[in-house]
Order: sequence, then structure tokens, then C-alpha cells
Amino acid sequence: MALVLVGFMGAGKSSALADVLDTDTLLEHQLETSIASYFQAFGEQKFRRREESVVLRALRSGAPVVALGGGGLGSPAVREALEGHTVVWLQVSPETAWKRAAGGDRPLAADRDAFLALHAQREPVYAAAADAYLPEGDRGLVERALPALRALEGAPARTKLVWARSAGGEYPVYVGRGIAGSVLPGAGDGRAFLVTDEHVGPLYASRIRGAQHTITISAGEEHKTLAAAEGVWRELAREGMGHGDHVVALGGGVVGDLAGFCAATYQRGVAVVQVPTTVVAQVDSAYGGKTGVDLPEAKNYVGAYHQPSAVVTDVDTLATLPPAELAAGYAEVLKTALIAGGTLWERVAGGAEVDERVVLDCARTKIAVVAADERDGGRRQLLNLGHTVGHAIETATGYRRYRHGEAVALGLLAALRLSDAAELREQVRELLSSAGLPTRLEGADAAAVVAATRMDKKRRGAEVPFVLVRSPGDVRHGERVAPDALEAAVTELVDS
Ligand SMILES: NC(=O)c1ccc[n+]([C@@H]2O[C@H](COP(=O)([O-])OP(=O)(O)OC[C@H]3O[C@@H](n4cnc5c(N)ncnc54)[C@H](O)[C@@H]3O)[C@@H](O)[C@H]2O)c1
Repeated sequence: MALVLVGFMGAGKSSALADVLDTDTLLEHQLETSIASYFQAFGEQKFRRREESVVLRALRSGAPVVALGGGGLGSPAVREALEGHTVVWLQVSPETAWKRAAGGDRPLAADRDAFLALHAQREPVYAAAADAYLPEGDRGLVERALPALRALEGAPARTKLVWARSAGGEYPVYVGRGIAGSVLPGAGDGRAFLVTDEHVGPLYASRIRGAQHTITISAGEEHKTLAAAEGVWRELAREGMGHGDHVVALGGGVVGDLAGFCAATYQRGVAVVQVPTTVVAQVDSAYGGKTGVDLPEAKNYVGAYHQPSAVVTDVDTLATLPPAELAAGYAEVLKTALIAGGTLWERVAGGAEVDERVVLDCARTKIAVVAADERDGGRRQLLNLGHTVGHAIETATGYRRYRHGEAVALGLLAALRLSDAAELREQVRELLSSAGLPTRLEGADAAAVVAATRMDKKRRGAEVPFVLVRSPGDVRHGERVAPDALEAAVTELVDS
């Protein structure tokens, strides 16, 4: 079984690791001329045939690492031969790729527009074939990810790896089925101190290997409090947890946020492994390192950024999730799909169920957004789509009336009204409604919700910036919204 590096021109495949068997180099040997001259003399079709036979031979050669030319995946025979190998997609932005490839002798890097179009065309091909998704990074990145990449060989079939990278650090994210108990690099150094809640613990705590001690908190948003955090800190101290050990946060977003916050602050910071078990947590909250607790005055008001040392997303755990929680998670799926646009939006809007592919693509979307802006200075605010009004609804209803996802569902409808996207709002309303989510606000009046939006953490001066949607995939943050427009959008939720 080989690690097969795939990706666009300029992704750095041939220099990613010391022992790479580079199929372009092999091909040039065989052609007895450069790829550029062969291409020019015989055309692309003939070139692809020669390339295919070289790549197929390389994949059978027993080499531990094979780098494929950028177009290598175009061949169905090659795609079939990849079965059984670990396909690693080295991602590269179109701008970086062009900077690296332009001016050389690569035949397909002569014209900028054609190059960018080819990049856009090939991305879904790499995405579909990949077992591991590595972001653009420094030269040592693949080497650092190597233990996690190698671990995919022994992991349950079809386990995927996303390498998350942002200013605060980098870590492996494993997404698959039946992986909660697997031994995976990054997810098990030292003794494990499990933090879970009363519903999840009895179901899954026994699957976590080597747990030294289990701390069980009460379930539900109303327990995401400083008092609960103090209980966890003190129990960790009594049980003798130290640096070198790690916390495992096993549960939904409440456990993840609270246990992550305890790990960020206990002895000024210990490692945490996130093992998310709800849709909300698997598509969103487990990644990106935001941790914290609520105050009675406002949500998520006390917290810290603390990146996990690994995330193990076992989609099988969703089987025991109550239907109302599954539905609540669907609101975050819709939000993420609106931000991502493209194939994820098409699949979700087409009614796809939340399976491992949807979970993986949502996770990849969130991780990519956080990579560009860990600390919420800009792009990360996109993830707040639907959350300004959503959080305000949670606060105005005392965190009891609505689940987080249900409040986000209502918040999405308000955001789409403010975006002046009537048709898309109706489409989203139908999707939310058929998932069993509320599309009408009860239990709080519009004025209370509007007042609670003023407590939003993104507020700057008197203004609360909004995230608005032009179309799926075209989402803007920092948008101004007139007070009467906000009032009308929230009133519409009450009156609908
Ligand atoms: N940190 C972030 O970036 C981020 C992002 C989004 C949401 N959040 C936070 O996430 C929280 C909401 O998370 P949530 O929706 O997962 O709620 P939750 O953690 O309260 O879980 C919902 C319910 O499902 C139960 N449960 C969890 N997994 C289960 C399973 N596999 N089988 C059976 N029952 C299970 C829980 O015990 C709980 O009763 C909010 O506090 C929100 O602020 C954080």
C-alpha cells in the first residue's frame, strides 16, 4: 500500500517527502524527452496514454510514496488502481499554483485563465479520490502529517483524514465509522481524562481506550456554565491530572466547548482530544478551537481559543442521537452548505441525508475557514451566519426553549430576509421545515430578541455586524443592517 500524492501543478508533490517516486520524472525518462516537448510534438491525448501506463506501473511497484502528475487522475484506470492505496490530496490555491507554475515549461501553465479554469475543474476530481486532505503549507507539512497518514492504513475502511492548520497550531481530524476506539496518532498521548455527559457516557465512554477517569456532567446547554467548569477542574485536580495527560471531550457541542475550556485553563492549558457525537459537533463545533461557557447575560461570553490535539469524528455515534437533536444539527449543516456553495450546497439542497460525506465536507469547510482566520478577525465571522439572531433567541428564551440548532434555524431565516434573498429564504425554510425544525419564533417577543442581539460579541460600538448571503457560496461578513430591517426580520419570525 502506497501513499499516493495527488494535486494540481505547483502543489509540491514531488518534493513533499524524501522518498517520493515521481511519475513525471519516470515519464520523462521513458519518453526520452521533456514532458513539454512530447506534449508539443504529439498532443495531450497521446501524452495521457503514455502517462497512464507509467502511473499504473508505479502504483504496482511497491514504492511507499508515489507522486502523480496533476492530470494523472483523469484516467479511469488510474482511479481504479488507487483502490487500496492511501490517496493524499496536497491542496494548493489557484493563486499559489499560478505563481509557482507560470513561466516554466509546463504545457498547461501557459495561459492564466485556462490554468485557473483547469484548477477549478480538477478540484472535485481530487476531492472525490482523496483519503486525506492536506492544506497548502510549508515544506515540512507532509512529513509532520506522516504518522496520521500512515495510520489510515490500519484504521477502519474509508476513514478520512483532514489536516487542520491555523495560527494556533495543527492537528489531525479523522472522520469515519467505528473509529471512536481506534488508536490514532495525536489522539492518545499520556493518560486520558474523559469528560462526557450523562447521556453520552453510558453509550460510548467504554469505547475510549485507556481512560484513566471519567467525569460526567449534566446534559444540556443550561449546564454550559462556570459552575460546571469548576466541577471539572476540581475533579481533574483531585484525580491528579497533569501535563502529559490529556482531556477527551466525548459528547456534543456543550461537552466539547466546556471540556475544551477546562483543558485550555486547567494548569494554564493541557491537551484536549475532541470526540464529537452530535451533528452540531461533528460538522462544526469540534473544529477550530473555540471553547467556553455561557453567562446568564449572554452566550459563549467566557472562553478561550484552544486548538485540540486531534479530533476523532465517528459518524456511527449519530445512530443514537434523538431525532430532535439530529434535526437541530441539520441547521448547522445548512449553514455550512450555504457558506461553501458548490457541490456541498447542491447535495444538501437536493435533500441528501447527513452521512459521512456530508459530515466530512462540512468539517473541511469549517477547517478551511478557520485556517484563514483563527481569531475571528474576518473570514471566520462567516461561520456566524444565522447566529446573531440565533444566539439572541437562545439568550432571550433563557437557553431552555430552543436547542442551539433550532435557534440557528430561525436565525438563518432572519439572515436570509436581511440578505434580501427571498427565493433562497423560501428554499431554506422548506428544507428546515421538512427536517422538523422551527420556522416560527415562540416564547420570546421580537423586541427582546432584537435587544439581545446588542449583546453579540461581534458588536463594535453601537453596530452589530451581520453575515449576509448573496447566493450559496457567496457569503459576506461585516455587513451593516438598519435597525428597522432587523426588527422586521425578527417580527416576521414571530408572525409567520
Ligand atoms: N465551539 C464552536 O465553534 C461551536 C460551534 C457551534 C456550536 N457550538 C456550541 O455547541 C453547543 C450545542 O451543541 P449540541 O447541539 O451538540 O448540543 P449538546 O451537546 O447539548 O447535545 C445535545 C443532546 O444530545 C445528547 N447526545 C449527544 N450525543 C449523543 C449521542 N451520540 N447519542 C445520544 N445522545 C447524544 C446530549 O447529551 C444532549 O442531551 C452550543 O453550546 C453551541 O454554542 C460551539
